[in-house]
Amino acid sequence: MYNSSAADGAANTVSGSRVFIYEVVGLRQNEETDKTNYPIRQSGSVFIRVPYSRMNQEMRRITRLGGKIVSIHPMNADGVTNGSSVLKMQASKSQGDGATATPATATSKGNAIKSDDQQPKTSETKGKPMTQAKAKESHADVPVNIYRPNAPFIGKCISNQELVGEGGIGTVRHLIFDISEGNLRYLEGQSIGIIPPGTDKNGKPEKLRLYSIASTRHGDFVDDKTVSLCVRQLEYKHPETGETVYGVCSTYLCHLEPGADVKITGPVGKEMLLPNDPNANIIMFATGTGIAPFRAYLWRMFKDEEKAANPDYEFKGFSWLIFGIPTTPNILYKEELEEIQQKYPDNFRLTYAISREQKNPQGGRMYIQDRVAEHADELWQLIQQENTHTYICGLKGMEGGIDEALSAAAAKDGVNWMEYQKQMKKAGRWHVETY
Ligand code: FAD
Ligand code: A2P
Repeated sequence: MYNSSAADGAANTVSGSRVFIYEVVGLRQNEETDKTNYPIRQSGSVFIRVPYSRMNQEMRRITRLGGKIVSIHPMNADGVTNGSSVLKMQASKSQGDGATATPATATSKGNAIKSDDQQPKTSETKGKPMTQAKAKESHADVPVNIYRPNAPFIGKCISNQELVGEGGIGTVRHLIFDISEGNLRYLEGQSIGIIPPGTDKNGKPEKLRLYSIASTRHGDFVDDKTVSLCVRQLEYKHPETGETVYGVCSTYLCHLEPGADVKITGPVGKEMLLPNDPNANIIMFATGTGIAPFRAYLWRMFKDEEKAANPDYEFKGFSWLIFGIPTTPNILYKEELEEIQQKYPDNFRLTYAISREQKNPQGGRMYIQDRVAEHADELWQLIQQENTHTYICGLKGMEGGIDEALSAAAAKDGVNWMEYQKQMKKAGRWHVETY
């Protein structure tokens, strides 16, 4: 049931006239809620209709009443929520029990089983050094720096959800910002800057931090009105004092309340763009929040609403995500990744490296580079196809190990991997964004 009475005073702007449906659990019945005209249940969800202009206020009210927002759906002009494309919240600080979670088709090592016809078609290219670089795609019309730090766009946080399940390590949040009022446009693989409030230790205004965009160009609601991020709260022990230090901007973002204004710059970046060719093969190596751009790619390739919104792009290639995370509850967007794998087993392969649950052949932590070594011959065959693009995103530390593993495979064909990689970079087929 929707609380229509909450819809009041919508501002006279594009975003101001928008209405969202909050799904809320845990609201307490008390004197204050007695005044509302929607039912409060002991358990289960209530749905509250919230105009954009009241998001902040409503959020505070819900918190005051002990409620927790579990989802936010935008409502379209017909009063219908865009339910099918709404973000599925992580829910589950209850999901993880520390057991190795792998897709239904996975081996006990978390390595997805691949059907025979999923084998990359490589026979024609086997062992051939890359002699001709295909022309690099032109990026002339890619939007960049629409908003600069001296005049940032003011977006509004409309959702901030935990992505790490119960028993997982740290905090990673999925944030959605409303950008409907401005002119901010972006493509999959780009980043935006966030300027946190306050001043740094020199008394100067805080500088922007970059974050990879986790949504497609159409946003999580496929209405071209939002941009999403996947942010880990930086937390470390000070090397000298041993005190716990929290990162400025990541802490600000991870604690941002729906309704809050946020200074956004950009977009920036042309390194991680997806090729326009829907037949391209896409290899993705991610650690942790490095998944962000790959979420955008995979949503573009496989999500029904996205496919409907992009009639000119029907992905027919082969994509392979190797994802490094510390524990099973840390598998960001797990449910949706595995859903794609189930639905498109011939076009999407999912391989986890769960460092603190799985062991590499040497008995150490299972890292991405160990998975690359395990599949090096296959990856090398795939990489040699001229329509294959490889992307690395996340921790810089993984790069050396990936090169080492691929060097060994290339050497079997008498190819110098580092030379080969250089050619791939020139051809715009080797893409790295590490931080
Ligand atoms: P700050 O307050 O700026 O602190 C960072 C500083 O802390 C470091 O410069 C270092 O001096 C110190 N420090 C950090 N770790 C340690 C340690 N272990 N020991 C000692 N000192 C330490 N982050 C995401 O969460 N998600 C993303 O999608 C994402 N995308 C990015 C994309 C790009 C292109 C780049 C460049 C970075 C991206 N980042 C992303 C990282 C992000 O920009 C910030 O760097 C991060 O959130 C930390 O910022 P902060 O303000 O919280 O930390
Ligand atoms: P670990 O922390 O167990 O050493 P997150 O961002 O959620 O912490 O995930 C990052 C993942 O990348 C973790 O599994 C982490 O393992 C792993 N990792 C840490 N250092 C490296 C490295 N040098 N190469 C590859 N993976 C790494």
